[in-house]
Amino acid sequence: MLVNAREMLQKAVKGKYAVAQININNLEWAKAALTTAQEQNSPIILGVTGGAAKYMGSFGTVAAMVKAMDKAMGITVPVAIHLDHGSYDQCLACIEAGFTSIMFDGSHLSFDENLRKTSDMVQLARKNGMTIEAEVGAIGGEEDGVIGNGDIADPTECEAIAKLGVDFLAAGIGNIHGVYPENWTGLDFDILEKIGQVTGGIPLVLHGGTGIPVEMIQKAISLGVAKINVNTECQLAFAAATRKYIEDGNDQKGKGFDPRNLLAPGANAIKQVIKEKFELFGSVGKA
Ligand code: 13P
Repeated sequence: MLVNAREMLQKAVKGKYAVAQININNLEWAKAALTTAQEQNSPIILGVTGGAAKYMGSFGTVAAMVKAMDKAMGITVPVAIHLDHGSYDQCLACIEAGFTSIMFDGSHLSFDENLRKTSDMVQLARKNGMTIEAEVGAIGGEEDGVIGNGDIADPTECEAIAKLGVDFLAAGIGNIHGVYPENWTGLDFDILEKIGQVTGGIPLVLHGGTGIPVEMIQKAISLGVAKINVNTECQLAFAAATRKYIEDGNDQKGKGFDPRNLLAPGANAIKQVIKEKFELFGSVGKA
């Protein structure tokens, strides 16, 4: 059932668990995510980056596919289709395309511009019945092979952005997209706690969910994180299972080359990762 992410995240804050944002990259990803959410009776947020949308055709292609799939599969658990790290124009395109939720990421702009543009987007999201996520303090990640530590968000800036009426807030607390480097120093819980204290209990979002140790996930949830984004881990699991299928020669046996067979182990591997995330984040049975 396609919905915006407001109610599912408010329930998560109250119930001290987190909803998984699983980024989707193609039909297999979307199907694996919807199937697992239904099987586990868990709410889910399907994240779509601009790059993934371009790969699939457009934001409209993704929205139409997810909507049709949700209906055809008889999905009854709450599902939000959410723009991940959107620019101003991408937010507008997703409003047009029928997404139920958007993220406006102005973390790379000056704070004043981030504030102004986020404020505009909050009004537009409201008008269209959508939820909106904003970001303060850029999330780190790999760029041209260089791994940088994520920025640490300024709690005062988080407070100002939260006051605009955003539904949930991503704040950099040392989290990074992709695989964490050996020398990663971990999440900054002092900052997370301060951000939680000044943002009036709005759901906080933890990006870079791949590879964060269990105790850190649990602590983050206890401090107000109610949405955790995962992308790379599903990609790694998909690639490993597909590699094994081919290395075992299965594509050369019978109809093993049929994409419906060839991609099945990868899709099952994604389902397994998602199930583990639901269990770890505590959202099983919370639909
Ligand atoms: P990972 O790819 O590190 O799991 O991060 C996903 C994410 O934060 C999407 O916004």
